[in-house]
Amino acid sequence: LRKITVPSLRQFKRQGDKISMLTCYDAAFADSLDRAGVDIILVGDSLGMVVQGRADTLAVSVSDMVYHAAAVRRGTTRPLLLVDMPFQSYANEQRALDAAHRLVAEGGAEMVKLEGAGPVLDAITYLAQREIPVCGHLGLTPQSVNRLGGFKVQGKEQSAAERLVEDAKRVQQAGAELLVLECVPAGLAKRITSELDIPTIGIGAGSECDGQVLVLHDLLGVTPGNRPRFVKDFLAEGGSVQGAVRAFVEAVRDGAFPAAEHSY
Ligand code: KIV
Ligand code: NA
Repeated sequence: LRKITVPSLRQFKRQGDKISMLTCYDAAFADSLDRAGVDIILVGDSLGMVVQGRADTLAVSVSDMVYHAAAVRRGTTRPLLLVDMPFQSYANEQRALDAAHRLVAEGGAEMVKLEGAGPVLDAITYLAQREIPVCGHLGLTPQSVNRLGGFKVQGKEQSAAERLVEDAKRVQQAGAELLVLECVPAGLAKRITSELDIPTIGIGAGSECDGQVLVLHDLLGVTPGNRPRFVKDFLAEGGSVQGAVRAFVEAVRDGAFPAAEHSY
């Protein structure tokens, strides 16, 4: 199988091939995901919750991200390595470049992910123009948890939906090559996906995105607490870690996941 690169992402979209993405935080699981055919590995700042045991992602540092990215890098050959920029590490352009440079140079990131639009668009452009490919992230942006008042579905009202469509176009215009849509109604994600040239990756965003992402611990059913609607425990049908990841990849490729029961 061919190495996944930034230019191959638009090719997936053009050909109508679905993109599979999973989070990962260490080398052993990275090797498992690679062998199962996962296209993009995301070192998510969700590690603040599933690895560090915190209630949200706000305390994750750039050094935390570098540590986990470097470990994942050693276990990864074929998948594209995408790494989250943590809370406030892209508050201005210079900070964003300093942080992203570390994620690339020390962590081996091939693309970095920033949440939001508005003032974040300047940071997206600054990085993209300096040879650091960028993934946007809209809808439920977990770094906004204190403003949002919890982890809730976004874009339900018409005005919020229109704003989200505009933000998605601006993120693409700013230079992003990929866009994660988290917890938005399926119809809205479908509309954004059709209006953008860059691929969209959904989580709790219906089946019409160009790809799907889940948190690895959710897919394996080991995340403590209530399971959100969009999560499926693939370990039950996969029978093993490797089987569960393969089942996810196949379900994304053939459009079996997510089903209506996983969508808003
Ligand atoms: O940190 C993370 O795991 C993420 C995904 C849920 C998209 O950003
Ligand atoms: Na994240």
